[in-house]
Amino acid sequence: MRALITGGGGQLASDLQTLLGDDAVSLSHAELDIDDAGAIDRAFGQHAPDVVFNCAAFHNVDECEREPDQSWTTNVLAVMELAKRPAKLVHLSTNYVFDGRRSAPYREDDVPSPRSVYALTKLAGEYAALGYAQDSLVVRSGGLYGFAGNASKGGNFVQRMTTRAREQGALKMVSDQRLQPTFTEDLAKALVEAVERDFKGVLHLVNEGPMSWHDFTVAIMEHAGIDVPVEAVSTTIPEGGVDRPLNGVLARPRADALGLPKLRSVDDALQDYMSRAGLSAGATA
Ligand SMILES: NC(=O)c1ccc[n+]([C@@H]2O[C@H](COP(=O)([O-])OP(=O)(O)OC[C@H]3O[C@@H](n4cnc5c(N)ncnc54)[C@H](OP(=O)(O)O)[C@@H]3O)[C@@H](O)[C@H]2O)c1
Repeated sequence: MRALITGGGGQLASDLQTLLGDDAVSLSHAELDIDDAGAIDRAFGQHAPDVVFNCAAFHNVDECEREPDQSWTTNVLAVMELAKRPAKLVHLSTNYVFDGRRSAPYREDDVPSPRSVYALTKLAGEYAALGYAQDSLVVRSGGLYGFAGNASKGGNFVQRMTTRAREQGALKMVSDQRLQPTFTEDLAKALVEAVERDFKGVLHLVNEGPMSWHDFTVAIMEHAGIDVPVEAVSTTIPEGGVDRPLNGVLARPRADALGLPKLRSVDDALQDYMSRAGLSAGATA
């Protein structure tokens, strides 16, 4: 497979590039702006990919609310352009396409119900990927963290929490938003396997074991050896703020039926990431 990765330098893109090595070329935002159809043409002319992993997105959720036009351009129209080109499109989407108002986990075939500009444009991007190409693969995931951090959010959640705990000596975190935070290295491996097996349509791929952001933060503090109180609080939506799903937990009956191995547990992935990122207790990195 000759792969083109968009959004190069981002969390997921970096792990995909490491995994695929010489089989992939990864282009950063500066090297390929997917909003520019001419730039997509030039990248296809130069690299002639068989598969495109679209890791580029306008996905700072609060910024999307303020900039709906930019959200639409990058998360929808650019995806349509990529889908029109002669390569299999692997497009990343989000658990936020569901409103999170029910208690059961969301399956791949549940009807989405987006409640933010980010979620709405990501859902429209799914339709762009699937509608403009027959063999696209759309993968929904959630709560991503990886070695490349997350530039648009000032570091990934794990980095932000360890820094904040050391600076402030106490944390507050919502305990009513649940999800499966997912290590991008694990997601990258699953994406590559799904492409090798030529899967199409929608799949849910997340680390195993739903938990709240509060549970996840407590686990981060334990692995980091940071002894600070983590107060559990409820979600409040400020005037004009974003409605984030309380239940962001994804079920994966379709991925299971296709025989795609489950990703490891959230806690195993977190421990592995933190120790290799130099964030565990006693780490020297
Ligand atoms: N992060 C999460 O928790 C999460 C959860 C569910 C789904 N997802 C989805 O998973 C995918 C990957 O997320 P990630 O966390 O790996 O993201 P990331 O680390 O923020 O990387 C995204 C990259 O896309 C680039 N980008 C933005 N606009 C672009 C454009 N018009 N053209 C080309 N590149 C552009 C960004 O560059 P600049 O920084 O220079 O703009 C950034 O390098 C996204 O589709 C996201 O919606 C993420």
